[in-house]
Amino acid sequence: MASFPLDPGDDDAFAACEDLLLRTCVVGAGVMGTGIAYTCASHGLPVRLKDVRGQALMQAQHDMQRWLARHGAGLGAAELGGVLRTQLDYQGFECASVVIEAVVDNLGIKNKVLGEVEGLVAADAVLLSNTSSLRIDDLAAGLQRPHNFAGMHFFNPAPLMPLVEVIRGRQTSDYAVQTAVKQAQAMGKIPIVVRDGPGFLVNRILMAYMHAFLRLLADGVDFERIDRAAEAFGWPMGPAYLEDVVGLDIGTLSCDLIFAGYPERMPHLPRNAFRVLLDAGLLGQKGGAGFYRYRSGEDGRLERSVNLQARQLLREQVASEALHLEDGQILDRLMLPMIIEAVHALQESVVGSAMELDRALSLGIGFPPLRGGALRYADELGAAQVVARCARYRHLGEAYEAPPLLRDLASRQGRFHENDGAR
Ligand SMILES: NC(=O)c1ccc[n+]([C@@H]2O[C@H](COP(=O)([O-])OP(=O)(O)OC[C@H]3O[C@@H](n4cnc5c(N)ncnc54)[C@H](O)[C@@H]3O)[C@@H](O)[C@H]2O)c1
Repeated sequence: MASFPLDPGDDDAFAACEDLLLRTCVVGAGVMGTGIAYTCASHGLPVRLKDVRGQALMQAQHDMQRWLARHGAGLGAAELGGVLRTQLDYQGFECASVVIEAVVDNLGIKNKVLGEVEGLVAADAVLLSNTSSLRIDDLAAGLQRPHNFAGMHFFNPAPLMPLVEVIRGRQTSDYAVQTAVKQAQAMGKIPIVVRDGPGFLVNRILMAYMHAFLRLLADGVDFERIDRAAEAFGWPMGPAYLEDVVGLDIGTLSCDLIFAGYPERMPHLPRNAFRVLLDAGLLGQKGGAGFYRYRSGEDGRLERSVNLQARQLLREQVASEALHLEDGQILDRLMLPMIIEAVHALQESVVGSAMELDRALSLGIGFPPLRGGALRYADELGAAQVVARCARYRHLGEAYEAPPLLRDLASRQGRFHENDGAR
């Protein structure tokens, strides 16, 4: 199979492209940048992928070949190579209409990269950051044209996950938001426009659930039991398995960053199970062990079994006493903080409507399809019932305190999805 050229030639599709909205540059050829560039190219959009490491570009090419073989639907390397260039320099950036930054999540490095790019591109080019943990306003602070800057948050793996959060910072213009929305649509994605804030919309709500999971572990509830209850509720994977798949290194870092943004509902946890496992060198699925152990079975499929070392570490360092809870209690303790965080996000106008919020949760994190989203689930229970359940767990702190909008709906028997009709 042909590989993609490392050096752009004279017949570069990128320079020849006349449609201003289609010339995309991606900076950072890691997990996300590679997936984003692949998605552009597989939708026929001319794209340049830049990194500072030749090794990253070689890996990107390898990963794209793998994607083509698995999901290419007849698309060949030659077709992809016709629109995609991988490069170590900024050649062609002066022609870009959109630059998507996907370098490591470090404010200093991102500021430096965005500043360099801003100095090279046309005045009306739009810069977009794929950060999942930093604030768009913090990244915009170092820019000359912050109005031409927004967030564009893809989910991993980018070629497969349908949702993209377009994040409007305080200074982001309508033009930049519209450009990001068009870019997402041209890449076959479903964009949802949200306001800036730690974790934006989807990860903020997910982190309320992960924080609740960590508190269950700190109370001595077994992780396999929690996973079973969550999966029976309809989640594609329970929180322990999810953390293993995300990776305990990346997962712990983004938890720390997002928890810090909501200290009243997601306070610092002195006995944090993720950190205990990470400190013991357990990285999750990619390292072969986390909460579970992973090994290739005879048919090549990955087999999963409980990691007894993890159980032991949690017993020694997180909770020595085992607390027994019924499945319903485990689910309430996991799901109520999620509903509550969703209500706070809606109250704060982070997202335009309950329908968009629930759609984002379904598309972004696979919220159980039968439940239809956190707010739809709250409607199903009834706001008064949710408030009553919150009262039962109020001793656990503000994560279980019903927000005003929820209490208001409870008092007038209202619903979050007033006008959507039947699902
Ligand atoms: N991994 C995820 O699940 C995920 C999901 C959504 C968003 N994100 C966000 O995407 C971004 C990238 O994450 P990732 O997981 O792909 O990271 P990664 O570590 O896999 O890749 C980062 C790449 O950036 C490159 N890089 C560093 N400095 C550079 C520079 N000055 N110029 C060009 N390239 C440079 C590195 O060589 C590396 O190849 C982060 O902001 C992260 O928050 C990650």
